[in-house]
Amino acid sequence: MAVTVARRMVRKLRRRIFPGSAAYWDRRYGKGGNSGPGSYGRYARFKAEFLNDLVTTRSISDVVEFGCGDGHQLSLVEYPEYLGLDVSEGAIALCVRSFAGDQTKRFELYDPDTFTGAEIADLALSLDVILHLVEDDVFELHLQHLFQAARRYVVIYGSDVDLDRADTAAHVRFRRFLPHIQERFPSWSLERVSEGIAPAAEGPRTDFFVFQRV
Ligand SMILES: C[S@@+](CC[C@H](N)C(=O)[O-])C[C@H]1O[C@@H](n2cnc3c(N)ncnc32)[C@H](O)[C@@H]1O
Repeated sequence: MAVTVARRMVRKLRRRIFPGSAAYWDRRYGKGGNSGPGSYGRYARFKAEFLNDLVTTRSISDVVEFGCGDGHQLSLVEYPEYLGLDVSEGAIALCVRSFAGDQTKRFELYDPDTFTGAEIADLALSLDVILHLVEDDVFELHLQHLFQAARRYVVIYGSDVDLDRADTAAHVRFRRFLPHIQERFPSWSLERVSEGIAPAAEGPRTDFFVFQRV
């Protein structure tokens, strides 16, 4: 009990000094950090298996990913053509270096305040990103840009649950996204939810949500 109270107090203090989601990730990569446990090991392989199957069975020609991260997850998936976007310059630099000889992949810094891209690719991806969008306006812009960037499909790998922020780290905020999507994007329907595997750290399960343009 005392441990739980102390942990909640520490988390509250950390939230107060949290620099914001974009700055958090840029600092993390700048210090040599990576995209986190969901981008490595069995979690990365699980995501890759689902995505490789989807790309093949739906004849996806091109893909845009919002929050491409350090590129490790990406290295396990075969996309015919790929554009990786991320708010962190550090992440983009890592990907540019890792995929230097790969003509099928491009990477660009993403600025939520200036992004205007529409119908960029058959499939738009958000993989393990929504839980890190702690600011309301950043969360809303992420969904808006994700759905406007897709021609045919949107895939979100996330947890559609609301959790008390006192129970999570400063860079994590679990919130429901399905109600928001259903209200804001009526020309898209949720075609399928595919159950994920148990989480890397404590927290809810993460699932694949596949949306199709109606
Ligand atoms: C947990 S990593 C996931 C990386 C990759 N999608 C994967 O599955 O391995 C989250 C990434 O989202 C990026 N990110 C954070 N906020 C973002 C935003 N508003 N738009 C795009 N990317 C963002 C971070 O910089 C980080 O690279």
